[in-house]
Amino acid sequence: MGKNRSFPHPIMISCTREQPWCAQARRTTNLGHYKRKILNVHLINKKDIATDKEATPVKADIIPFPARYSTRDSLPVVNISGLYHPNPSVQRSTAGRIGEIAMANGFLYIEKHGVSRALINAVYEQAQCFFDCDLATKSQYYIGRAPNHRGYVPTTEKGDYADEQGPRRYEAFDMGVDHPADDPDFLLGNPLMGPNVWPKLPGFQYILGRYLKEMSRITNVMCGAFEQVLGLDSGFFASHMDRPISQLRLLHYLENKNTGAADTGVNMGAHTDYECFTILHSQTPSLQVLDLDSNWIDAPPIDNTFYFNIGDMLEAWSGGLFVATPHRVVNSGDERFSLPYFAATNFDTIVSPVHVAKYADKQKDYAPIVAGEHLLNNMLRDFPYLRRQYEAGLLNMGDIKPGDNPFESRMMSTLNV
Ligand SMILES: [Fe+2]
Repeated sequence: MGKNRSFPHPIMISCTREQPWCAQARRTTNLGHYKRKILNVHLINKKDIATDKEATPVKADIIPFPARYSTRDSLPVVNISGLYHPNPSVQRSTAGRIGEIAMANGFLYIEKHGVSRALINAVYEQAQCFFDCDLATKSQYYIGRAPNHRGYVPTTEKGDYADEQGPRRYEAFDMGVDHPADDPDFLLGNPLMGPNVWPKLPGFQYILGRYLKEMSRITNVMCGAFEQVLGLDSGFFASHMDRPISQLRLLHYLENKNTGAADTGVNMGAHTDYECFTILHSQTPSLQVLDLDSNWIDAPPIDNTFYFNIGDMLEAWSGGLFVATPHRVVNSGDERFSLPYFAATNFDTIVSPVHVAKYADKQKDYAPIVAGEHLLNNMLRDFPYLRRQYEAGLLNMGDIKPGDNPFESRMMSTLNV
């Protein structure tokens, strides 16, 4: 793989929605030229570990749920402006409140986050404009043809969630941190690194670029709060996040008012998020969160807030003090958009519990996890195109293999499947 590999020019696309700024002349893509050969590369320093290319599912030990309080009542809302306050005691008290909730159920709303409503609206407009394009146009950006995990995810790219029955009814557009095209790990074939694919819609790259910066800003702020709660040095998390594998998804749930008998009503299957935490915006109900008593409770959107939830990595890092709580999206029948941003570490960050003297009696052992491997393991479950690459021996980095997610296995008895 030469260093001079060029990234494709953006593709001009047209939308079916009648908006003058969507009407673009289509031109030929060069995405088809991506016939890369992903070399047998170990991106992390584990040269002595043989990668098993046979897609043998791994039966992982189930990690029991950390102790939690019931979430049967509505999820809490936290004003995070205190994290910016010049008075350290206000910062500490806000961080403490976030920590309490992270330890209780790992799911909350955050308000006073500083992201402008105009920017959020503009992101929804861009998402709607893109998803309104015809399938042939969107498919020019098909993620399976991109050089990394960036681009359009059609409904046919159905993952293997046990409780997702029938045809998939949502599509997505996946982005990440916009790493440079000469990123060394991208050039070595790491699908989680490298530049974004930008649809040639007016304003798309600018608006989504701004939104990504805002998500990165909130990530830093929330990491500061968790450092306080865990008694870590300021900048501890940032030191593992200078080349993060964070991702932003634009999700579009299709209108679906004719559910059949075989339809369980679950639209996106129950899962935990694989990264440190997720900052999610949606304007439409349908999200549900699993509570301590294994009840699915509704988590409707609240104006001027983001959802915020702990993911697998932060649960492990905190030694189980924080909880990666399962959640799912049920079918309301209505069209729905949502914007999850998955805040992650660098690919090769090895996550293992930090010692927290104050909570030492509550902490548990977690086996060390390479963050990028954990993410890819689960993406092999979620993305058929990645499985095909893996089974063809084209995806060989670190110790990745499809298998159970021990953070999710603990909820399987609640799924009635
Ligand atoms: Fe999620």
